[in-house]
Amino acid sequence: MQIANINKSKAIFDEIYISTDPRSYFSVLGALDYMIPDVAEPVIRQILAAKTALHGTAPTVLDVGCSYGINAATHRFPLNFATLKKRYARREMMQIDARELARLDRHFYASWPDVGHGSFIGLDVSEPAIRYANEAGLHAAGVAANLEADELSPSDAALIAPADVLLSTGAIGYVTGRTYGKLLDALTGTPWVISFVLRMFPYQEFIDLFTERGLVTERLTGATFVQRRFRDETEFELSLAALRAQGIDPEGIESEGLFQAELFLSRPKADVEAAPLDEIVTVSSGRFNQINSRFVQIEDEGGRPRTAIEA
Ligand SMILES: C[S@@+](CC[C@H](N)C(=O)[O-])C[C@H]1O[C@@H](n2cnc3c(N)ncnc32)[C@H](O)[C@@H]1O
Repeated sequence: MQIANINKSKAIFDEIYISTDPRSYFSVLGALDYMIPDVAEPVIRQILAAKTALHGTAPTVLDVGCSYGINAATHRFPLNFATLKKRYARREMMQIDARELARLDRHFYASWPDVGHGSFIGLDVSEPAIRYANEAGLHAAGVAANLEADELSPSDAALIAPADVLLSTGAIGYVTGRTYGKLLDALTGTPWVISFVLRMFPYQEFIDLFTERGLVTERLTGATFVQRRFRDETEFELSLAALRAQGIDPEGIESEGLFQAELFLSRPKADVEAAPLDEIVTVSSGRFNQINSRFVQIEDEGGRPRTAIEA
């Protein structure tokens, strides 16, 4: 089954991707419990840490189909999709204009410690989303381009050349090997490619492309990552049919009403041998299920107990 045909199973959200700011993105996808940036983040963190340990330098991550820079926000700062959704759902936040929101968000992100393992560059077809991610201070740079149809301009190619990690969440299907081939051509070095891919999208075309470019691809077995709820019965039925048509059994996984993604990591063979995927990634289930805060007992300088709350 071709990616273009499988895409017909999925609901279309084009309007929220091209707004001047992320408010509609968070309200529409948030209402569908979109959570892939949150469930992917701990895994991305472990992979970037492993790469840093192997190569000795902090990675430059190119987030492919980055939208408003949410992966950069959840990785670099102690924030998640759910908390950001609440921020934008406030009546006061709904009332301000987009420029004011970008200004406030720049201050908001700057007020958090950067706990990330690298810097981020964005690629998205949406020019407003790229502009917002830059203005909010989430990305060091950004490229607005549709590499499915167009070539990379020389100036954009120079901008992404230093990237040594290609990351994507929720974007495979919108982008295909066409985009990745052009990106790989533009990079100075050989990257690691981290892809969270809905199970209904065949990834073999990407694996073949990466093999041609000297990368070995591993899939994290025994773990799937929830992307979001199906929007309605039509999307649910069509998606289950698309899975079954490819011989993939959705029972107990998508049949529960949730789109599920798998993790693929492509790297040079020497890196795979030095640090196999199942040795660098541990999936900790339930991390996001806490309803209440966690309490931890800590001591002050005098050894007296002090109670702190970790949100
Ligand atoms: C579901 S969103 C995922 C955004 C983000 N990665 C996340 O997980 O929150 C899909 C994104 O892919 C982008 N997109 C669609 N077609 C694209 C293309 N040809 N090239 C780059 N980005 C594209 C959309 O504009 C949108 O921002």
